[in-house]
Amino acid sequence: MCCQLYILYISILTQTRHVHNSFTPIMKSALYWTLLSSFLSAGLAHGAVPISSVKQVTNIPTVPNKFIIEVDDLSDIPTKRSFTRSLDAVYESLRGRAIKFDVTKEFDSSGLFVGAALTLNSAQDVAAIASTPGVKSIRPVVRFDQPKPVKSHVVTGPNDAQVPPDGESTHILTGVDKLHAQGLIGTGIKIGIIDTGIDYTHPVLGGGIGPGHKVIGGFDFVGDAYNGTNTPMPDNDPLDQCNGHGTHVAGIIGANPGNEFNISGVAFGASISSYRVFGCSGSVTDDILVDALLRGVKEGQDILTLSLGGADGWTEGTATVVASRIAASGKIVTIAAGNDGSSGSWFTSGPGNGINVISAASLDNTVIPLQNLTVQGVQHDPITYFDTFPLPVLGDFPIFATSNDTTVVDDACNPLPASTPDLSKFVVVVRRGTCSFVQKLTNIAAKGGNLTLIYDNGNGFSDISVGNFQAVLIQPADGEFLVQQFVKGAPITVSFPQVGGAFNFPDPAGGLISSFTSYGPTNDMFFKPAVAAPGGNIISTFPVPLGSFAVLSGTSMATPFIAGSSALLLAAKGKTAAVAKSARDLFETTAQPIGSSKTDGDPLQTLTQQGAGLINVFSAIHTTTIVSPGELILNDTANFKPIHTFTVKNTGNTLKKFKLSHVPAGTALTVQPGTIFASDGPVPLSSTAASVTIIPNTLILLPGQSQTVLATFKPPTGLDPSTFPVFSGFIQIAGPTAADTAHVSYLGLQGSLKNKQVIDDTDEFFGVPTPALLDAAGDVQSGPVNYTFVGDDVPTLVWRLAFGTPAFRADLVSSNINFKPTITSRSFGNFGPFFSFPSPHNGGSFAQVKIVGPLAEFDFVSRNNDDTTPGGEGSNSFVLETPTFANGTTIPNGSYRVLIRALRVTGDPKNEADYESWLSPVLGIQASPSKSP
Ligand SMILES: *[C@@H]1O[C@H](CO)[C@@H](O)[C@H](O)[C@H]1NC(C)=O
Ligand SMILES: *[C@@H]1O[C@H](CO)[C@@H](O)[C@H](O)[C@H]1NC(C)=O
Ligand SMILES: *[C@@H]1O[C@H](CO)[C@@H](O)[C@H](O)[C@H]1NC(C)=O
Ligand SMILES: *[C@@H]1O[C@H](CO)[C@@H](O)[C@H](O)[C@H]1NC(C)=O
Ligand SMILES: *[C@@H]1O[C@H](CO)[C@@H](O)[C@H](O)[C@H]1NC(C)=O
Ligand SMILES: *[C@@H]1O[C@H](CO)[C@@H](O)[C@H](O)[C@H]1NC(C)=O
Repeated sequence: MCCQLYILYISILTQTRHVHNSFTPIMKSALYWTLLSSFLSAGLAHGAVPISSVKQVTNIPTVPNKFIIEVDDLSDIPTKRSFTRSLDAVYESLRGRAIKFDVTKEFDSSGLFVGAALTLNSAQDVAAIASTPGVKSIRPVVRFDQPKPVKSHVVTGPNDAQVPPDGESTHILTGVDKLHAQGLIGTGIKIGIIDTGIDYTHPVLGGGIGPGHKVIGGFDFVGDAYNGTNTPMPDNDPLDQCNGHGTHVAGIIGANPGNEFNISGVAFGASISSYRVFGCSGSVTDDILVDALLRGVKEGQDILTLSLGGADGWTEGTATVVASRIAASGKIVTIAAGNDGSSGSWFTSGPGNGINVISAASLDNTVIPLQNLTVQGVQHDPITYFDTFPLPVLGDFPIFATSNDTTVVDDACNPLPASTPDLSKFVVVVRRGTCSFVQKLTNIAAKGGNLTLIYDNGNGFSDISVGNFQAVLIQPADGEFLVQQFVKGAPITVSFPQVGGAFNFPDPAGGLISSFTSYGPTNDMFFKPAVAAPGGNIISTFPVPLGSFAVLSGTSMATPFIAGSSALLLAAKGKTAAVAKSARDLFETTAQPIGSSKTDGDPLQTLTQQGAGLINVFSAIHTTTIVSPGELILNDTANFKPIHTFTVKNTGNTLKKFKLSHVPAGTALTVQPGTIFASDGPVPLSSTAASVTIIPNTLILLPGQSQTVLATFKPPTGLDPSTFPVFSGFIQIAGPTAADTAHVSYLGLQGSLKNKQVIDDTDEFFGVPTPALLDAAGDVQSGPVNYTFVGDDVPTLVWRLAFGTPAFRADLVSSNINFKPTITSRSFGNFGPFFSFPSPHNGGSFAQVKIVGPLAEFDFVSRNNDDTTPGGEGSNSFVLETPTFANGTTIPNGSYRVLIRALRVTGDPKNEADYESWLSPVLGIQASPSKSP
C-alpha cells in the first residue's frame, strides 16, 4: 500500500550474535545469551528443524577480547605502593604479569563503580587478570540491540496534524490527568534518557538544546555511524534525526501540550538530558551503557531511564549491577522489562533485572486511534478501518465486490474473471481468508484495482501487512453490509475524510497487560517486572524528518511513562534520596491490579507479568497509607521463606480503619507439563492459589501511627510439580475509601529450582538429541571423527538450555575418561565403551574430574527460546576454529571428548551432584603442525 510508511513487529531489547571464537575461562564473569521472541509456536509442536541448519558460527553475544574489570578500593589492594588510584595499582600489577592490554574506558565513580574497559591482546589473560590483587570482577563486554518498537506507524501527510488520537487516555488511566490539573508537571526535576538521542529541534520538545530549553543537554557517546561493532565517535550533540526511538520516549516524558495531537508528556515541566548510546542502527556494548549511566549520575540527573536491554534472566550483568547500585544510592532508575512475552517465564531482561531498579511492564492503551470512512448514497454509520492516519485518498468512489457471497473462504485468491471491469475507479471489497493479503491484492491490481477494503473473516480486527498495496482491514459486519449494497445495485459510494475521521476504537485487549511484556521472575527469584504503565499503542513525538509523530508499542513506551511519573513524585515530595528510594514501594503499593482477561471469574494476571499492577501516579503521590516493603519474595520450596512482615503507616490526619485480606492472582504454570520446556506466552494460569494467614487482619491507626503486620504463607497444593508453578498475589489493605487502599505483592515458586533440568537433552527441536557435535558437513557426529582444522574441517558444538544456569563450562577430556555423565545420549545407542563406565556416578567432587583443558566457561547464562530458525536464538553453537584451548595454548593432536557441565539454579558450585553433564563422542584433533598456532 502506497502510504503506510512502515510497521515493525520486532521485540526490543535484544543483543547481537555471531561473535567469533574468543572463548576464555572467565572466572568472575557474567555473560548473556540473547533470545529473540518472534516465531514461537504454542505448546510442544516445535516442529523440528534439521540440525544441519544450525549456522556453523559461534553465536555468543560478547565482544572478542573486550572485558570490564571492577577494582577494589585502594586501601584494599596489598600491592598498591605509592599509587593514588586503585586502577593504576592494578595496571601496574597487570604489566608485572606481562599482560598486554589497552584501556578503552575508565569508570571512576567511587561508591558506584570503579573499573575499566580493557581490550586484551589475548583473551587467554582473563584468568590471570581475575587473580590479580585488586581486581574484584572481570566480565566480558556484552552487546545490546537497538531498542525496537513492537509496532510503529508514522504520520503520512500534513492533514494528519488535524487528527486527534487521544494520547491523554493513558493519563486518565493512571491519574496523571488529575496531577496535571493540580499543576504538577515535574518542574525542577532532571531526567536522563539513555537511548538513540533526541530530535530536540522538534517544536513540541522545545525546539532546541541547552540551558533554558526543555532538553538541557546530553552527550553522544557513539555517533550516527556506530552500529555496535565499529568504533564509536563521540561528540557533544545527542541529536537523532535518523532513528526516532529516543524522540518517542522523550515525548512520553516531556511533550509540551497545545500541539495538534492533544498529547502531553507525563512530566512536561521536567528538564531532559539525552545520552545517546545507539547510532542510526545496530547495537551497543555495555561498557558504553555503564559510561552513560555514570555520566548521568555525575551530571546530577534525578532520574535515569533506559528503554533497552536483552533477555538474560539474571541480576548479574555489568550494566545491570551498576544500574541497581545507582538506584540504591538514591536515584530513580526505570528500565524496560523487555518484549519477550511470547517466550514465557524466566526470561527477564538486563539491565532491567537490576535488583533496585524499577522494571516496567506494558499495559495496552484502552483505545486504538483508528480512522472512519464515510458512506454516501445509502444511510449508514461511518465504517472504522484499521489505520491510525487517514488513507490519503480524495473523492467519492463506488464499490466493487470481488464476490457476491459474504461466506466465500478464498475470495480473490485466484485471478479475477475476464468479465471483471477496470477496477481503478472503484474501492474494491474483498473477504479475508485462505491466501495472503498480498496475493488477493495482486489479483485485484491485475484488474487495475488500487484501493481495497479487506473485511475480516473472524480472524481478528488488527493491523495487517499488505506490502506496497493500498488496503486496510474493516470489520466483518461492515464488509457484509457493503457487499449486500453492491449486490443490490444500491447507489453507494465511500470516501476517506482527511480531517475529522479519527475514532478512538475501544481496544478489546485494552487495559490488559500487553502480551509482549516479558515474564519474570529472574532465575534468582527477583520480582520483575515491578509495575506496569501504558506502552501499547502510544502516540508521541518522532524526529521531524521522519514524520514528527508516531504510534509505537513496547515496554520501551511504558518505561518513560514511569520515569515521568517519578518526576512528578519527586516534584511533589522533594527530590531527596529518601523519596527516590521510596518510589518503587509507593508505585507498587498503590498500583491497580490487572485481570488476566476481561472474562468474569478469570484470575488476576500473574504478577510475573503485571508486576504490582498498573501504576496510579495520583495515588502514589497523595496516598496517606504508606506500606513498606512493597514486595514479599517467598523464593522456591528449597529456600522457602514463609513468614514476612510489613508495616502500614497512617500519614493522614484522621483515624483510619483497615481490613487486610488476601487477593490471589493466577498461578503461572511456567513449564509445559511433563516436559522440560518453559510454557510459551501467554503463560497458562491456574486458579489454585497460596493461602495466607494475616495477623492482625484489621488495623486501627491514629494519624501518624504505624503498625507491623505478620503474613504467613502456605504454597498452593495439588498442582502438577512438573509445571514449576509460580504463585503470586496481593495482601490488600483496604482503608475507609479507595484512596486509602494499598497492597503488598508476593511471589513464590512451588517447587525447587535445583530440580529444574537445565540442559535440553531431547530431540524436540532438531529431531536429534542435543547436545551434539557437528562435523564439517554439519552432520551429527555419532562415532569418532578426526578434524584437521584445514578449511571447514572443524567441529561445532551445539546445545540448548531449557533453563538458565549460573555456570556453564565445556572442557576437553581424555577420550577414555572414566566419567558417567548425567545425560546419556540416546542417539548413540549401544556405543560400547563410550557410555558404559561401570562405576556409578555417586557425587564425587567437581574438581576430581580430570580435564585436559578448558574450551569455554560462562556464568549466569539465560535459557534458550524456541526460535531455532537460522540466525535465531533457540540454540547455542560454538565452533572450535583452531585447535586451541580457551587459555590460548595449543591442543596437542590426540583423541578427546568434550565434557559439558551446567550447574542447576541454586546448586552448589563445588558439588558435582548439582551439575548436569554430557560427554561427546570421540573428537580426534589431527592438525598438521603448521596449522597449530
Ligand atoms: C558496522 O559498520 C562497519 C563499517 O563501519 C561494517 O564494516 C560492519 O559490518 C557493520 N556491522 C554491522 C553489524 O552492521
Ligand atoms: C466512527 O465510526 C463508529 C462506528 O460506526 C462510530 O461509532 C463513531 O461515532 C464514528 N466516529 C467518528 C468520529 O466518525
Ligand atoms: C487508482 O489510480 C488511478 C490512477 O492514479 C486514479 O485515477 C484512481 O482514482 C485510483 N483509484 C482509487 C480508488 O483511488
Ligand atoms: C454480483 O452482483 C452484481 C450486482 O448485482 C451482478 O452484476 C453480478 O453479476 C453478480 N455476480 C455474480 C457472479 O453473480
Ligand atoms: C532465593 O534463594 C536463593 C538461594 O538461597 C538465593 O540465591 C536468591 O537470592 C533468593 N532470591 C531472593 C529474591 O531472595
Ligand atoms: C583418527 O586419527 C588417528 C591417528 O591418525 C587414527 O588412529 C584413527 O583411526 C583416526 N580415526 C578416525 C575415525 O578416522
